[in-house]
Amino acid sequence: MKVGFYQFRPLFGNPIQNCKKIIAALKDVDADLLVLPELALTGYYFKNKAESIKYAEDPDNSERIDSLINLANECNMHLIIGFAEKCGEQCFNSAALIGPSGVQHIYRKVHLFNEEKFCFDPGDTPFIVNDLNGVKIGMMICFDWVFPEVARVLALQGAQIICQPSNLVLTFCQQTMLARCLENKVFAITANRYGVDKRPQGSLRFTGKSQVVTPGGVLLHRAFSQRDALFITEINPEEANNKMITQHNNVLMDRRPEFYTSLNNK
Ligand code: ACM
Repeated sequence: MKVGFYQFRPLFGNPIQNCKKIIAALKDVDADLLVLPELALTGYYFKNKAESIKYAEDPDNSERIDSLINLANECNMHLIIGFAEKCGEQCFNSAALIGPSGVQHIYRKVHLFNEEKFCFDPGDTPFIVNDLNGVKIGMMICFDWVFPEVARVLALQGAQIICQPSNLVLTFCQQTMLARCLENKVFAITANRYGVDKRPQGSLRFTGKSQVVTPGGVLLHRAFSQRDALFITEINPEEANNKMITQHNNVLMDRRPEFYTSLNNK
């Protein structure tokens, strides 16, 4: 399976240009699954919810989403892209799984980071796994990495590849994802953005370094921090079916949930 990411620098508040840039960069790719950053159509640093909803897309009525469906169709691939999702009066920080025949699934970010709490509604979609021609794909968005439960619940549902659209500003995630992969024996594709969102309320600089990690916790590739990067590699998703970490330890079966009961509802 050919998988990868596209790292770039979205322009704040310019979905038309950002979408054009994505299509120009990806129109000739040969891949099965490509992951793009969080909020890739709008940029990140909104002032408030009124502003995020102004730039958000209703996926059922969006020229941008339609042109990404066309792209997926023409290249016969799947895309996972982060975008601001308008749903009535609500606005979510979402990721869409887009295939040749349309939007297959939308995940709405469950763990909002910092000032995102003033710009988005908390996600209300469960963590589920999607089947892409027999390969099991899980989604999380950026700051979800801080909560190890996310990768775990995806792995318990059989996820072989965790896709993580990101707009990372802290420096810890990329290394931490090696542990998330190893402790769950899954692949992870983190697609981060780079550049700066300079806004009246301040500036945020994003860390780039998008990456692909194996179920052994090995970094297959990490992009530079502040450059466009299109990376595609061949992986065997079935490697993620082997949950043994030693000859006698299976990372899922050896769990002792009876000792974790304080996790429930706390
Ligand atoms: C983040 O969740 N965008 C840091």
